[in-house]
Amino acid sequence: MNKRAEFVATNLEQAAFWMPFTANRQFKKSPRLLARAEGMYYWTHDGRQVLDGTSGLWCVNAGHCRPKIVEAVKRQVAQMDFAPTFQMGHPVAFEFAERLAQIAPQGFSRVFFTNSGSESADTALKIALAYHRARGEPGRFRLIGRERGYHGVNFGGMAVGGITANKKVFGPGVAGVDHIRHTHDLARNAFSRGQPKHGAEFAEELERLCVLHDPSTVAAVIVEPVAGSAGVLVPPLGYLERLREICTRHGILLIFDEVITGFGRLGAPFASQHFNVMPDLFTVAKGMTNATVPMGGVFVKDSIFQPFMQGPEGIELFHGYTYSGHPLACAAGIGTLDTYEEEGLLTRGAGLAKLWEDALHSLKGAPHVIDIRNCGLMAAIELEPRAGQPGRRAYEVFLKAFEAGVLIRVTGDTIALSPPLIVERRQIDRIVSCVGEMVRGVP
Ligand SMILES: Cc1ncc(COP(=O)(O)O)c(C=O)c1O
Repeated sequence: MNKRAEFVATNLEQAAFWMPFTANRQFKKSPRLLARAEGMYYWTHDGRQVLDGTSGLWCVNAGHCRPKIVEAVKRQVAQMDFAPTFQMGHPVAFEFAERLAQIAPQGFSRVFFTNSGSESADTALKIALAYHRARGEPGRFRLIGRERGYHGVNFGGMAVGGITANKKVFGPGVAGVDHIRHTHDLARNAFSRGQPKHGAEFAEELERLCVLHDPSTVAAVIVEPVAGSAGVLVPPLGYLERLREICTRHGILLIFDEVITGFGRLGAPFASQHFNVMPDLFTVAKGMTNATVPMGGVFVKDSIFQPFMQGPEGIELFHGYTYSGHPLACAAGIGTLDTYEEEGLLTRGAGLAKLWEDALHSLKGAPHVIDIRNCGLMAAIELEPRAGQPGRRAYEVFLKAFEAGVLIRVTGDTIALSPPLIVERRQIDRIVSCVGEMVRGVP
């Protein structure tokens, strides 16, 4: 155990670190500390190897500590640690943006840099509002999200998000926001493989909201192509197409939040390509730099960008972050894209998806399992909640799996899985057999 790990292992109960999205008191009483990582694995502070079934937090798509990325960051930090991008520039940001545009779906020619998925969501919403104003429709101010959607924790993303616990203590939020219903439908779609058959009609809710609010007041609709944090909700067949069609008909911008689905998670570089449905803007983060240095971004179509460039001379968008296009993040991003390209990782998931699906669905019939969902290299196993203790059963599975050397993620009573895209068959088998064993072992 190194000195730092030793310190935290012995002093945690009064530790200064206020941990995010964590039961701090519980955690600090019995901590789980990760001290090293490589490829598909973490090692705990006391030297146990843990197979990463979640790509960290849906973000380490190429696996851990990949040499090209590590080298790129080392070189960059020694050469230029930081440079502003307000009224100044540096080559590595321009180069990374160019490289990103090359792998983006056709027409997405511009990218705005942020530092996280939350900032990307808020940036996309602001670009949508400013775009309508730039083209002379300032009356489009409404933003529509979806129940069970997650778009980060900043005020814009929180407002359009649809996870109650993330909102309820933070006041009234942003005005002019509404939500369509989620697409989860256990009664009709449980144990679907890939896209569920039923539920395209849930998109009609958008039409209903358009009638209610008058579509000419609606600026944008934001959805995750596959809802991740709420438990891997795969869009029903025809659903995204229907949303696209309603948005187009009413002049509403469609924003895809690809913070999880971007960079190969579904077996294509982006979910829009996997589902063959194109948004007008889409957000990314996480896999953009393989999570090595925090970064996010918003891709926009040229047709969204151009109205900004046709206004009066001067700053076209009063928005940005000190660290937009940070040199280290851009260097990490270039190293990441090199790694993805050399190893074919942005499409590797497509070849593994069937194997992944079959392995997961082998848990059908295991005790407590009420649904299994999968898409690309994402999956969820939903457990029946224990009476009076929602979330507890899945949490126990998570703890036991970690003890057994496999990192999984839980949200409520759903186990979410998203291994690095370098995962091999034997590792898939290990993740699934471990989850199966733990699920069978909990009361
Ligand atoms: C779809 C989606 N959007 C936004 C975010 C927020 O990203 P961040 O935690 O980097 O702010 C997440 C994080 O999981 C996400 O899954």
